[in-house]
Amino acid sequence: MTILGIETSFDETSAAFINNGTDFVYQYFSTSMAKHISTGGVVPEVASREQSIYIIPVLQQVLTSMQSHHSNIDAIAVTVGPGLIGSLLIGVETAKALAYAWDKPLIPVNHMLGHIYGVWLTYGQDMNQQWPKLALLASGGHTELILMESHAKFYKIGQTLDDAAGEAFDKVARLLGYPYPGGPHVSTLAELGNPQAINFPLPLRSATGYNFSFSGLKTAVLHYVKDNPSASKADIAASFQQTVITHLLRQTQAAAHKFAVKEVILGGGVAANKQLRSQLVTALQPIIVRIPDLKYTTDNAAVIASAAYYHQNFASWRYVQADPSLELPSIIDP
Ligand code: KG4
Ligand code: ZN
Repeated sequence: MTILGIETSFDETSAAFINNGTDFVYQYFSTSMAKHISTGGVVPEVASREQSIYIIPVLQQVLTSMQSHHSNIDAIAVTVGPGLIGSLLIGVETAKALAYAWDKPLIPVNHMLGHIYGVWLTYGQDMNQQWPKLALLASGGHTELILMESHAKFYKIGQTLDDAAGEAFDKVARLLGYPYPGGPHVSTLAELGNPQAINFPLPLRSATGYNFSFSGLKTAVLHYVKDNPSASKADIAASFQQTVITHLLRQTQAAAHKFAVKEVILGGGVAANKQLRSQLVTALQPIIVRIPDLKYTTDNAAVIASAAYYHQNFASWRYVQADPSLELPSIIDP
């Protein structure tokens, strides 16, 4: 089954086609990232205008490639939320128009569910063996723990109470004088510093449950920078990064043990962080940890098409709508 995926939830315009959920065939994307550097973050109006400029050329590229692969499209998958409404609408309305014109089924996909499936594209069918699994998703807008009993049965068991992990990286980068997106800058700088140099408070140290919090940590970094203007930026970056990672690991470990999961999955833009990737594997031993290839960490249509294969909730184009605040199903107080 060949699925054409379309992802336009934020600043990436991406289309891809994937066979049977795990076989990557082709992906093409454009990003409006350069437009957001001068403003220090994504301006929604600018992002959606760029989406409307890129969507047709990106699709042209992917459809030309499909012809050369002699592939036929069986279904169209599109991110319907969460994300920026103006950006989402470009992808959703385009997918609806294609589904109508080609008379193909449409599969609406939750963007966060897509982030889980980067590991299916990385490890293939092997991912279908061991359940239950726990997914740690950390991006610029979300930080969540998802318990998966099967493809069909999954629940959010923890989430951030304030800022997302990626957002904390972006804000600390700004404090240290680096442009958006800050995660890659902070992590490169952190390699040169001492992660034990500064004792930033560990978030939710004595709380129960599997939630996250990053705004107190961001404020602690802000105060430290103000009070210690000549402190080493590398030490600040390394100590901040280590506190974020320790917090992510502690909550993930607690949930992994409580629910006796067989595998832990990493996903989302922050999954590109080298230290997080290696420390997660060590901290969760002997549980298998699935780390996505770097190309599946940031927003991309390949993971949307993969998720759609395992969640074939076909919908008529008449009823598919963009929903900027769409959430995954959740259980409270597990
Ligand atoms: O998933 P994503 O591409 O977009 C959203 O859906 O938000 O995530 C982008 C986020 C940004 O906050 C960016 O700073 C962060 O991922 N990020 C990183 C790294 N690379 C990207 N954070 C920490 N370390 C990195 N190496
Ligand atoms: Zn994302």
